[in-house]
Amino acid sequence: SRRITVRDIAAAKQRGEKWPMLTAYDAMTAGVFDEAGIPVMLVGDSMGNCHLGYDSTVPVTLDQITMLSAAVVRGTRRALIVGDLPFGSYQEGPVQALRSATRLMKEAGVGAVKLEGGERSAEQIRLLVESGIPVMAHVGLTPQSVHAYGGHPVQGRGEEAAQQLLRDAKAVQAAGAFAVVLELVPAGLAAEVTGGLDIPTVGIGAGADCDAQVLVWTDMAGLTDWPGGRMPRFVKQYAQLRQTLGDAAKAFAEDVVGGAYPAEQHSFR
Ligand code: KIV
Ligand code: NA
Repeated sequence: SRRITVRDIAAAKQRGEKWPMLTAYDAMTAGVFDEAGIPVMLVGDSMGNCHLGYDSTVPVTLDQITMLSAAVVRGTRRALIVGDLPFGSYQEGPVQALRSATRLMKEAGVGAVKLEGGERSAEQIRLLVESGIPVMAHVGLTPQSVHAYGGHPVQGRGEEAAQQLLRDAKAVQAAGAFAVVLELVPAGLAAEVTGGLDIPTVGIGAGADCDAQVLVWTDMAGLTDWPGGRMPRFVKQYAQLRQTLGDAAKAFAEDVVGGAYPAEQHSFR
């Protein structure tokens, strides 16, 4: 069995099939998602928040993305693995983007890369695609710009912002992107963008009418510790891993302190 490719992704839109995407940052978790049939995994720069302990994606480096992307590729057999280009690895221009994306493909073995920005990143996307590197674009809220936004506001509200979002989506499609993430976009606008594109939209906080949906895996599985306990409206938790893992650690600690672990069957004669 071979890996899913960007051609399979294009065919899914033709057939009107929706598909799920999850982030992954390590081989073991990625292997679980691969066996569960998740067709596309993103080694997101969200690793800054949920794997590396930063409070944004801004500090994440290409070295970190490369190392964890290689682990996710090794841990999977079937999924298309998309490596996220981190802040500072493509903003200088197309040549820098090509250098970064080439490194990620060669050293980690990803099948595609992702970068943030619509019209502002179109030249980067074009050169990567011309060079044989499939690109997933990302418009709407682009978290690498958190310091410019001063937070994480919903995007595309108001006529002017909506028109800009539509232009951004068209620009990344014209530049050759095979898919585009829509983050924190009102559902009606996301539906309009989706209907107006030939490439699939991958929604996160962008309503039900996108072609695909992505969640950060630690959000999806209930592991994330939300600042101030405030979980965003778009997240749905499909497990309570924070509770489950915490309970397991407490039970282990109790057993060790109380002498119940290791028992006879865990010991060698
Ligand atoms: O880094 C990430 O996890 C992402 C997704 C939320 C699209 O960019
Ligand atoms: Na990201």
